[in-house]
Amino acid sequence: MVKPLQLATASSLLATSAIAADPCSSIHGHGLQVPGAEVISVTGFTVTNATVLTLPPVPGPISGLNFCNVSVILTHPGANDSVAVEVWLPTQDWNGRYQATGGGGYSSGEGEFALAPAVAAGYATSQTDGGNIGSGFVLNPQTLTPDGQINWPLFTDYAYRSIHDMTIVSKFIIKAYYGKAQKYSYWNGCSTGGRQGWVQAQMYPDDYDGILAAAPAANTPSLGTAIQWPYVVMMQEKYIPSQCEFMAFINASIAQCDGLDGVEDGIISNVQGCAFDPYCLVGERITCDGKQVTITSITARIYQKILDGPTTPSGVKLWYGQNVGTGFNGLYPGDIEVVTTNGTTTATPSPLSDNFIRYLLKRDPAYDTSQITYSEFAQLFAQANFEFDWIISSNNPDLSGFRKSGGKMITWHGLGDNIIFPHGTINYRQRVEAVMGGTTAVDEFFRLYLPPGVNHCGGGYGPYPTDPLDALVAWVEHGKAPETLAGQYVDVNGEVVNHSICRYPLVSKYDGKGNPNSASSYTCATSFGLKS
Ligand SMILES: *[C@@H]1O[C@H](CO)[C@@H](O)[C@H](O)[C@H]1NC(C)=O
Ligand SMILES: *[C@@H]1O[C@H](CO)[C@@H](O)[C@H](O)[C@H]1NC(C)=O
Ligand SMILES: *[C@@H]1O[C@H](CO)[C@@H](O)[C@H](O)[C@H]1NC(C)=O
Ligand SMILES: *[C@@H]1O[C@H](CO)[C@@H](O)[C@H](O)[C@H]1NC(C)=O
Ligand SMILES: *[C@@H]1O[C@H](CO)[C@@H](O)[C@H](O)[C@H]1NC(C)=O
Ligand SMILES: *[C@@H]1O[C@H](CO)[C@@H](O)[C@H](O)[C@H]1NC(C)=O
Repeated sequence: MVKPLQLATASSLLATSAIAADPCSSIHGHGLQVPGAEVISVTGFTVTNATVLTLPPVPGPISGLNFCNVSVILTHPGANDSVAVEVWLPTQDWNGRYQATGGGGYSSGEGEFALAPAVAAGYATSQTDGGNIGSGFVLNPQTLTPDGQINWPLFTDYAYRSIHDMTIVSKFIIKAYYGKAQKYSYWNGCSTGGRQGWVQAQMYPDDYDGILAAAPAANTPSLGTAIQWPYVVMMQEKYIPSQCEFMAFINASIAQCDGLDGVEDGIISNVQGCAFDPYCLVGERITCDGKQVTITSITARIYQKILDGPTTPSGVKLWYGQNVGTGFNGLYPGDIEVVTTNGTTTATPSPLSDNFIRYLLKRDPAYDTSQITYSEFAQLFAQANFEFDWIISSNNPDLSGFRKSGGKMITWHGLGDNIIFPHGTINYRQRVEAVMGGTTAVDEFFRLYLPPGVNHCGGGYGPYPTDPLDALVAWVEHGKAPETLAGQYVDVNGEVVNHSICRYPLVSKYDGKGNPNSASSYTCATSFGLKS
């Protein structure tokens, strides 16, 4: 009589432990301490054979994913916020690494789009919604409190707090799930994700061994206002050139400056050496939509002002402009949009800067930005820096903590970025050099790469970095500091072009004889040695 009972007990114990043995669904938050925050919930479930979409240029969707999906909700007492962290842990073949992913625009995280490629590559990975101050290129109404003030606690989440919280949470969950800590931690983000990477290096230097921070949306008060500049210029000059007219300037600048790097490939690589004068096109007749259009000095002035970037009415430079040759295509949703319908051209400002001005500066979501004068723009620029520099500039050049902790950081920024001005990134790197011991000393832990022609976070026409994260991993784990980043694009003839990207301040110079589509035909030089 005793034996069967024991057997029954044993088998029910077995059944219980089989359920409890799924380390994903039994994950809990006991012992999870996030300074300044309260953990509301921790839930996990195993996902098998999932198909998840990706964002271009990452090819997707990605299928056959098996992972533990853990969701953690936090709040900061007194902040009235709710911040979600999502951690994905590969159920098999974990590579022992943690990869944190960043956001874009006003999103603190890119959602599952960014998690899928990381988990497919064997990383434990995570993202956070940062409390949802906005999504994509628009801010949410809760950016402002009911009485019309900035919701500073929520802004703090977006500016820096949520990514550090996410890091603490993710490392805890990794240890709870696998029973051991990650061997290495990496940050991977572009745009807002790039800014967040810089914030990690500046404020939380021990969080990551390696940081990949591309096209950072740092210098945020200056940037958030400056993105509006092309729209302000068109409204103030009372003329909106069509895409076709902009293309006339872009084509002329490429014709003039393409060869200044020694190879005619349709890309202006030697941006510094290109002295393009938009006024040289005044009087030229071009065909747009089957109609003849004459380029006027107003159109040239508008284009020149866009290249120059914002200034005060008296001409004092406020921030950088676009690089010469950068597409003015309005294709990217964060960019200004210029559209011609039935012969009428209209302009819609970038929602990024328009939301920045309406919510954060005017504190009036209904504010009409089309009337902003040049002097009001200069005031808004000053206000933005006065009120937001301390919290979200993300450009502190003192990286001594990060250097001391042994961290490595790679930043790349397309010289054809049509949203975030690459010179803001160069400016930061130069400021880091000034306080951290110069070019060579900084290259020991922070390297910058400027692929010509590449748009914001990808796209455009130029060598897109194909494996910067692998380069970072090799640097962190094997001490192999990347001399160049591998870059690739498909040219107008459909041919694959390999073109390594040299580290700043070096440039990739054609040797004058090899196959121009082959990386081995280029060397890293201190200058192109040519000027227009
Ligand atoms: C996984 O899902 C795919 C469809 O995405 C399906 O064709 C395949 O049979 C599934 N595999 C398993 C092992 O369930
Ligand atoms: C992961 O979990 C979150 C939170 O429960 C859920 O919203 C999401 O759809 C899940 N993703 C997948 C791929 O299962
Ligand atoms: C707290 O947040 C909710 C949701 O965003 C909002 O509806 C509510 O007004 C907020 N409460 C306070 C006191 O701000
Ligand atoms: C600019 O160059 C492109 C590509 O060669 C061409 O298709 C377009 O018509 C040109 N536009 C103008 C306005 O010159
Ligand atoms: C453009 O013109 C066509 C033909 O006159 C008309 O059907 C269409 O609605 C117009 N589109 C816009 C956006 O005005
Ligand atoms: C470009 O690189 C790929 C490998 O990534 C190689 O297969 C191809 O031959 C290279 N093309 C040239 C022109 O060097």
